[in-house]
Amino acid sequence: MSALLDRFLDDAGLDRVTAAARRVMTRCEELARISGAESGIERVYLSPEHARANRLVAEWMREAGMTTWQDAAGNQVGRLEARSVTADPHVDRDAPALLLGSHLDTVPDAGRYDGIVGVLMAIETVRLLRVRAGDSWISPFAFAIEVIAFSDEEGTRFGTALLGSAAVAGTWDPEWWTLTDAGGTTLRQAFLEFGLDPGRVGEAGRRPEELVGYLEAHIEQGPELDQRGEALAVVSSIASARRFQFVMEGEARHAGGTPYASRHDALLGASEAALAVERICMAEHHVVGTVGRFEAFPGAVNVIPGEVRFSLDLRGEFDERRDEVWNRIAEDLGAIAWRRGLRWQAREVHRAAAVTCAPLLQDVVREGILTTLPNGADEPAVIFSRAGHDGMAMAAITGVGMLFLRNAHGISHHPDEHVEGADVARGIRALAEAVLQLGSESRTTLERIRR
Ligand code: GLV
Ligand code: MN
Ligand code: MN
Repeated sequence: MSALLDRFLDDAGLDRVTAAARRVMTRCEELARISGAESGIERVYLSPEHARANRLVAEWMREAGMTTWQDAAGNQVGRLEARSVTADPHVDRDAPALLLGSHLDTVPDAGRYDGIVGVLMAIETVRLLRVRAGDSWISPFAFAIEVIAFSDEEGTRFGTALLGSAAVAGTWDPEWWTLTDAGGTTLRQAFLEFGLDPGRVGEAGRRPEELVGYLEAHIEQGPELDQRGEALAVVSSIASARRFQFVMEGEARHAGGTPYASRHDALLGASEAALAVERICMAEHHVVGTVGRFEAFPGAVNVIPGEVRFSLDLRGEFDERRDEVWNRIAEDLGAIAWRRGLRWQAREVHRAAAVTCAPLLQDVVREGILTTLPNGADEPAVIFSRAGHDGMAMAAITGVGMLFLRNAHGISHHPDEHVEGADVARGIRALAEAVLQLGSESRTTLERIRR
C-alpha cells in the first residue's frame, strides 16, 4: 500500500523504522531497571523512581530534537515546534500541538510495556518525522508535536487513577489532596517531597485551543489481537470506570472465647461483599468488577478481624450500565452488613466516563495500520478497550485516538507481559503514517477533531 511515510522518508526508511523499534525494545529494558521494588518492576507516582524515569526519558526526548520540561503534576513533556508557513526562521512557537504519548508509572510487579512502549514509540515517531531548521529540529507540519509521558495512569499509590492526565485536562479535584498511600503519606505531602508545589498544579492544565488532538499507542492488554493473528488495531472507545475504597467495620474480639452468635467479623462480611461483586457483574454483559486490595485489621491470627479495607474497580462499556451495577452492589453490601451487624463506608476515588475515539483520529489510525498490511488485506481490527487509558482524562479537552498492539496471550499487569519487536516496528510505522495523514488535513478539519 502506498504510504505518505514512504515518500517522506528517504530510501533508508525501512531500516530507520526497524532501528526505531529496536531502540524502543532496548529502552523498555532500561526503564524496567528503574524500580522501587526489590524484585520486579514497580514505579509509582511521585516516587524517586518516577523522577529517575522522567530524567531518562527527557534525555531521549532531547536526543530526538525536542525541548523538554516536567510539568506541575510531574508529567514529562517534550516539544518539537511547528514549521511556520510565513516566518523566517521557520519556527512557529504559538502553534497548537498534536500530543502523542502514554504513561511511565506501573502497577506492582508489572510488565515492561504497559504505557512505556507508547511513550517510546511516540519519541521514535518524532525522530522519524522531524526536519531541520538551522541548528534545531522542527515538526514538518503547521502544528507542533509534543510527546507526553504521563506520571500517574495506574493510580496504584493513591487508589485513584489518571492523576497526571487529569492535571493536564484541568480536571484535578482538590479532594484528592487528602488521599493517602499505604504508608499514610497524603498526596499533598508526596507532591512536596517530590519537589512539586501543590498550589501550582493548575499550571499543568492545557487549553483545548493549544491542542490538535491526543494519539496514543498501547498494548491491547487482552487476547483479541493475539487470537485473530493480527498485530495492530484501531481503538473505537474506552470503557468507563469507577473506583471505590471501602471500610467494613465489625468488632475485634478473642478468636477462642467469642461464640459465633456474638461475632461481628468484618473479614467475613467483606468476603461476602467481594463474592457479591463477582455474582452481580457476571450476570451483566460488558461490566467487570475487581476487588484488588483487601486488608484485615488488626491482622492477628487469634483476633477476629474488626476492620477490613478493600477496593473496588468497576468498568463498563456504558456509563449507565456501570452505574446500575454499582447501585446493585451497594444494595447488597448494605444487606450483608446489616445481617452481620457491621458498618460500612465507601469513598469514590475515581470516576471516568466512557470515551469514544474521535472519528478523524480513528480514520488516520486505520489508514496507518493499512500501510502495514499486504495489499488487499482485510480491514484492520477495531477494538473497544476494556482497560483504562490517559485518553479518558484527555477527552475532556481534546479528541482522542488510540492504536493497539498485540500482546502475547493478552497477559498484562504481570511480568510475563510481552510484545514483539516486529509489532512495535509495525506500530511505529502506523503511528508515523497517521501523524502524516493528519499533517495533510486542512486546519478547519483539524479544528473539528476537538468537537
Ligand atoms: C490501567 O491499566 C487500568 O486499566 O487500570
Ligand atoms: Mn496498566
Ligand atoms: Mn496502560
